[in-house]
Amino acid sequence: PRSYRITLLPGDGIGREVVSVAKDVLSLAGSFEGVKSNEKIHSIEFRFREVPIGGSALDSVGVPLPEETLTAAKESDAVLLGAIGGYKWDANEKHLKPETGLLQLRAGLGVFANLRPATVLSQLVDSSTLKKEVAEGVDIMVVRELTGGIYFGNPRGFGYNERGEDIGFNTEIYSVPEIDRIARVAFEVARKRRGKLCSVDKANVLEASMLWRKRVTALASEFPDIEISHMYVDNAAMQLIRNPKQFDTIVTNNIFGDILSDEASMLTGSIGMLPSASIAESGPGLFEPIHGSAPDIAGQDKANPLATVLSAAMLLRYGLGEEQAAKRIEAAVANTLNKGFRTGDIFSDGTTLVGCKRMGEEVLKSVDTQTSAV
Ligand code: NAD
Ligand code: IPM
Ligand code: MN
Repeated sequence: PRSYRITLLPGDGIGREVVSVAKDVLSLAGSFEGVKSNEKIHSIEFRFREVPIGGSALDSVGVPLPEETLTAAKESDAVLLGAIGGYKWDANEKHLKPETGLLQLRAGLGVFANLRPATVLSQLVDSSTLKKEVAEGVDIMVVRELTGGIYFGNPRGFGYNERGEDIGFNTEIYSVPEIDRIARVAFEVARKRRGKLCSVDKANVLEASMLWRKRVTALASEFPDIEISHMYVDNAAMQLIRNPKQFDTIVTNNIFGDILSDEASMLTGSIGMLPSASIAESGPGLFEPIHGSAPDIAGQDKANPLATVLSAAMLLRYGLGEEQAAKRIEAAVANTLNKGFRTGDIFSDGTTLVGCKRMGEEVLKSVDTQTSAV
């Protein structure tokens, strides 16, 4: 069998619950058995290694990203993360925040391109807060720059202004190589989709956005088959709700991508449905749901595990090139929804309310059915 090393980072809160489900689904989708001259064939074998990150790493090791964790991630073939953060650590100093650990991990792996698909599954049209005719058929890919911009820009910090008042400050900054590499990824992604790319910025106000728009415009000539457009982020936030079907691929900076992808998730019914893939120039990718640790429902078996299960599918597709196994997981999710199973966040009349674990068991059953059918 083909063998892969997977780093598991359950993290905090519901991260632990959803990664546990996704790990089982990944294992089963991989240990797909075919039969050849009466011999069972295991297609993929995973070697999992679980290491701490975020609040749980702060509690056990004292830092949000232990060296051992980054090393394990770098030495593996792909990384699956749940979520980090929680009330307990919210007042920590910046360098001891769970969120800092996640940002260090992204920087450490160099995963600059974050793909966040917002696909409205037909089974969930009724779970969207938008009208059926607005949500139906929406299929957007947000390409978010993940290792630059205001998240990482210097100067940053706390200090005093000339009046002696306390201030906090950050810097939105992009270099030409940073813009070019994320734009190229986005053009390529659009090429494999419907050939439309919308670059979202704030070029009417921000210098970093002015350079962004200039470079995206320049690069567009290398991709004459792609229909390129530019939109200000405030308008984009509105257009996503007004008429989301106008969008195919969106490329944007780190912070706008963070916000717009949470907004786009509600088109699909719930933030609990949105997976993501973060890709580096070389080395392992990082796969995680776009949601957080949801402290309000953590430990209650209420979380929707499908965003993480679908992130495991993206791990197979983008991280390992195992397209068949990825499709197997996506089909199992669709099948489970077809049967009417719903966690609380996507529940609607006439469907069956289940918890995180049960949802996982149902997805496993669906993977298993496909497995034995072949
Ligand atoms: P959140 O995404 O954790 O939760 C927002 C809301 O969505 C909550 O009501 C939550 O219950 C709900 N929700 C989220 N995921 C869900 C799921 N899978 N199923 C059902 N409901 C779900 O965002 P927040 O409340 O703003 O942040 C909580 C903590 O998570 C903070 O510490 C934050 O920094 C952290 N966070 C981490 C990540 C990450 O690890 N990538 C992402 C976002 C937020
Ligand atoms: C996300 C989260 C993170 C981000 C935080 C927790 C650092 O909101 O993955 O979307 O802002 O990127
Ligand atoms: Mn976010």
